[in-house]
Amino acid sequence: MKNKKIVFFCQECGYESAKWMGQCPGCKAWNTFVEEPVSTVRKSTGVTAGRLTGRAEPMLLKDIRLDEDERKTTEIGELDRVLGGGIVPGSLVLVGGDPGIGKSTLLLQVCRNLSQDGNSVLYISGEESLGQIRLRANRIGTFNDKMQLLCETNLDTVRQVMERLKPEVAIIDSIQTMFSEEVGSAPGSVSQVRESTNVLMQIAKGLGITIFIVGHVTKEGNVAGPRVLEHMVDTVLYFEGDRHASYRILRAVKNRFGSTNEIGVFEMKESGLQEVANPSEYLLDGRPENASGCVVACSMEGTRPILVEIQALVCQSNFGIPRRTAVGTDFNRVNLLMAVLEKKVGLHLASSDAYVNIAGGMKMTEPAIDLGICLAIVSSVKDIVIPDGLMAFGEIGLSGEVRAVSMAGQRVKEAKKLGFDTVILPEVCKTSVEKPEGIQLVFVKRIQDAITYIMKK
Ligand SMILES: Nc1ncnc2c1ncn2[C@@H]1O[C@H](COP(=O)(O)OP(=O)(O)OP(=O)(O)O)[C@@H](O)[C@H]1O
Ligand SMILES: [Mg+2]
Repeated sequence: MKNKKIVFFCQECGYESAKWMGQCPGCKAWNTFVEEPVSTVRKSTGVTAGRLTGRAEPMLLKDIRLDEDERKTTEIGELDRVLGGGIVPGSLVLVGGDPGIGKSTLLLQVCRNLSQDGNSVLYISGEESLGQIRLRANRIGTFNDKMQLLCETNLDTVRQVMERLKPEVAIIDSIQTMFSEEVGSAPGSVSQVRESTNVLMQIAKGLGITIFIVGHVTKEGNVAGPRVLEHMVDTVLYFEGDRHASYRILRAVKNRFGSTNEIGVFEMKESGLQEVANPSEYLLDGRPENASGCVVACSMEGTRPILVEIQALVCQSNFGIPRRTAVGTDFNRVNLLMAVLEKKVGLHLASSDAYVNIAGGMKMTEPAIDLGICLAIVSSVKDIVIPDGLMAFGEIGLSGEVRAVSMAGQRVKEAKKLGFDTVILPEVCKTSVEKPEGIQLVFVKRIQDAITYIMKK
């Protein structure tokens, strides 16, 4: 008992306190403190080769050896893109996401591809039995004989197995089920999750094993356990998606080896997760014909333009305070745009309810969709149909001007690829866009110009 210290941890954010508190000073959550014993004696993890703190002697930057062909491809293009071009040996990747979104499926597919390429892969599951994993594996396809599975929740055993087998890639499904005997608290508690991640980090860096960790998310959508978990790992990926739609989006929120604004789009099928190479086509599928209040806009997700349909419904309010709803985009931004339309265009919206929706369940907050939102609202108010072949993008300023957006040329190209014939875009982008054949570009300076154009059509 001598070496055991009792501390209280907030289960939401990992705030540490010597005493129990009702409200967490860190995240302001109520009743989240739980008593956890913390061991003050630390056993050596036993991993020594190339350990992070292994050298007391500083090295010259130029003398540090780099392994050739640093990155390994997972053969899943969308995942490689989010990782920044493949997996980096010795990195620790955290994959978070809602229950049942497909985390285990995706990682099992990664295992299949990597083992088929001749890498040794170890899948450690603390949640499912070997039989259950086999069942999923059958659904996904054929596996290489070298693929190894282990059902284990004891971290010390996991470490020993890793040291013995030295796989190139290991999957831990999930971090909340792992426990270390050194830490007295229950699996999934803050100190256990932190300790487990720490040990896994040492294994990853020490033995050069790439480790993927599955993490459950809390109600708020953060990885359950403390935020420190996200600091410890190299890359944090979130798997998100609409419960009712079959597509899933993989997003990097932290990446030490690549950009964080790329997304990967997948569709859940019987045979596992399939890549969606052209998300715009997928999202625009099933658009209503000749309907007012709909327009196609374009948002950049990393280096990829994504076209979505924006829908608006404006109707007379029955109550004193009009009701406004925004699904898939920023509510305050929609209010701001409606105020601009009211003041600068003279549209009477003060006594109208307005509902704005990004079709397909995508979430978009890029200001480039402003013009699309405005046109959809105008189209609904005036009950005019915007032609199917028209796409619009541009940021709207408070004085009603249409401002420049980045990568206008790429957006126009994407519209052309998907068969659009007209694009409304900011005048200021004129110099940066080369006109592709067979598509009409309408440059507008103010929001009023764009409205005049669609009224004429
Ligand atoms: N036969 C099937 N056909 C189509 N989709 C399926 C089939 N079986 C399972 N699925 C999909 O796979 C999902 C489960 O995937 P998976 O177990 O990888 O999720 P997970 O994120 O690991 O969940 P958990 O958090 O529970 O571990 C289900 O929600 C379902 O959408
Ligand atoms: Mg799972």
